[in-house]
Amino acid sequence: MIGRNDLCWCGSGKKWKKCHFPNPGQEQNIDTLPFEKRAALYRKQYGIILKTPAQIEGIRRSGHLAAKILDEVCKRAQIGVTTEELNTYAHKLHLDAGAIPAPLGYGEPPFPKSICTSINEVICHGIPDSVPLREGDIMNIDITCILNGYYGDCSRMVHLGNPNPERCLVSKVSYECLMKAIEILKPGVPLGAIGTAIHAHAKTAGCSVVTQFVGHGVGVGFHEAPQIPHYRNSIATPLTSGMTFTIEPMINAGTPTAVIDKENGWTARSADGRASAQWEHTLLITETGYEILTPWTL
Ligand code: MF3
Ligand code: CO
Ligand code: CO
Repeated sequence: MIGRNDLCWCGSGKKWKKCHFPNPGQEQNIDTLPFEKRAALYRKQYGIILKTPAQIEGIRRSGHLAAKILDEVCKRAQIGVTTEELNTYAHKLHLDAGAIPAPLGYGEPPFPKSICTSINEVICHGIPDSVPLREGDIMNIDITCILNGYYGDCSRMVHLGNPNPERCLVSKVSYECLMKAIEILKPGVPLGAIGTAIHAHAKTAGCSVVTQFVGHGVGVGFHEAPQIPHYRNSIATPLTSGMTFTIEPMINAGTPTAVIDKENGWTARSADGRASAQWEHTLLITETGYEILTPWTL
């Protein structure tokens, strides 16, 4: 047990009370810690893995590949094409690049395909099938690849022809929510500010935020700590450089409640059948702000 006047455990040579003594000003000191100490602290306190420069480079490569595959698959998403065809194409792009599609066989029951395709009222985890895409559909395509053991996770919407105003609205609002949340990222910002920014924008636009699925730490595993809620919350964990995580707001036109398909155990739909949309990036917290590790293009 160290006392207030003992030397701080961080090795700064300062008294504990003047350094990492737990108080609301603590956040300012965390980012001055050497990487090893900060990584140990985040692991112990939050279960968060701060990434080394070598890990960051691996995750960046994987993220850039996921984004490139996503761009290619989105180009192929046209009226009359089936999501099964998109899945086959995406699977080949992974293998050609020396990567593995993370969804295939993931979880319990094992996810049966290599990508998620979530159409109209489907919130997330839609399973590619033999139904052709129709005029007016909106679809989220979600790609997670594993390259040299590192994970990159991203998704975006595509519009088939001219979707109705409600579908266009959720797609637009979820994109804006993602970008507004990304803009605030920098060391010292409390994790809860992400969901709070998303919730505020969705509410202003008359949309609801899904609470049953969250963003997540990602990089050396598919779903790492911390969870990143997209709704208003007061999680105080300060963002710090070396954190890698997703933001992936799911925004609904009506009720936020999701119902999971009983037959396949995966597909989540809005309980009222109204439109839902989602966009996703993998982000890195840097010393000055953030880097988008999955730079898909519009
Ligand atoms: N890529 C999704 C995410 O953003 C997870 C899909 S899990 C799967 O977290 F098994 F459905 F692929
Ligand atoms: Co994700
Ligand atoms: Co994803």
